[in-house]
Amino acid sequence: MKGKDFLTLEEFTPADLESVLGLAARLKAKRPARFGSHALEGRNVALVFEKPSLRTRVSFQVAVSELGGFSMNLSSNELQLGRGETVEDTARVLSRYVHCIMARVNRHSDLERLAKAATVPVINGLSDAHHPVQILADLLTLGERKGRLKGLKVGWVGDGDNVCNSWAVGAALTGIHFVAATPKGYEPDAGTVSAASKMAEATGGSIHAVNDPVEAVTGADCVMTDTFVSMGFEKEQEARLKAFMPKYRVTKALMSKAKKDAVFEHCLPAHRGEEVDADVIDGPQSVVFDEAENRLHTEKALLCFLMLGKREYASLMP
Ligand code: CP
Ligand code: NVA
Repeated sequence: MKGKDFLTLEEFTPADLESVLGLAARLKAKRPARFGSHALEGRNVALVFEKPSLRTRVSFQVAVSELGGFSMNLSSNELQLGRGETVEDTARVLSRYVHCIMARVNRHSDLERLAKAATVPVINGLSDAHHPVQILADLLTLGERKGRLKGLKVGWVGDGDNVCNSWAVGAALTGIHFVAATPKGYEPDAGTVSAASKMAEATGGSIHAVNDPVEAVTGADCVMTDTFVSMGFEKEQEARLKAFMPKYRVTKALMSKAKKDAVFEHCLPAHRGEEVDADVIDGPQSVVFDEAENRLHTEKALLCFLMLGKREYASLMP
């Protein structure tokens, strides 16, 4: 683990990621027995939102609660941030009250400023550039269905957005072959792809950005997509829909190019008839609600990894 924060997933070593996914599976299996229900006792977590959220908001709040901690949901416009208090002062003040800050922000650079000024761990709950907590859930879900991650092929179709960037890193850390097909001009971040490609050398994975959806999906174990119009890009809606539709929509015909037992993932919220057809996302190959549930288990594991001392963390492991 590099540093105290979880902003892009690049902070993790392959072993860190394996450990967090392992703990998540354990917390999930033993949830009925309330396993880990005292892990964060006496600890407080601030959940800061500059953008809307269903899954991130609720799963983090429930995660902290199930670990015996306390969380507070804070909209940025209810803080003094909305009236011009600096990100740095907000970080310094929050660090005096809470043990961890999770933040969903418009600009990734604001998250970096927050993390730099905070003395407690900062978790990225989505920025314009990365969505690393989503990839923890996506990987857990894929591993549950396939029994392994290393050597699998994941085909991304659509926008090279925040989720796609974080997937490139997640694939690199787990030895997955990740192929992202986007229209020209909507590719994943070149810097992230090249950093991820380098990381993949150690795990046997690979990262490729292409423009042909069929190339991404052919022989894939998992097909995935995301909205064509991410939060903050609403002004580009018309141009984006023109660039993406219908070629980059995940249809049954496109799914048929993947392996027979391929699964379909989507971080949600979804737009049926835009990035995916209803008969795919609501069909038998779709695992999107397991994926949403797994946000909870992986976030519980992540909070333990970042907030607990080595010995406390080890006590949760078999
Ligand atoms: N997938 C995801 O992050 O959903 P929310 O925007 O609802 O949090
Ligand atoms: N790419 C989407 C993800 C939503 C969870 C967005 O940023 O709006």
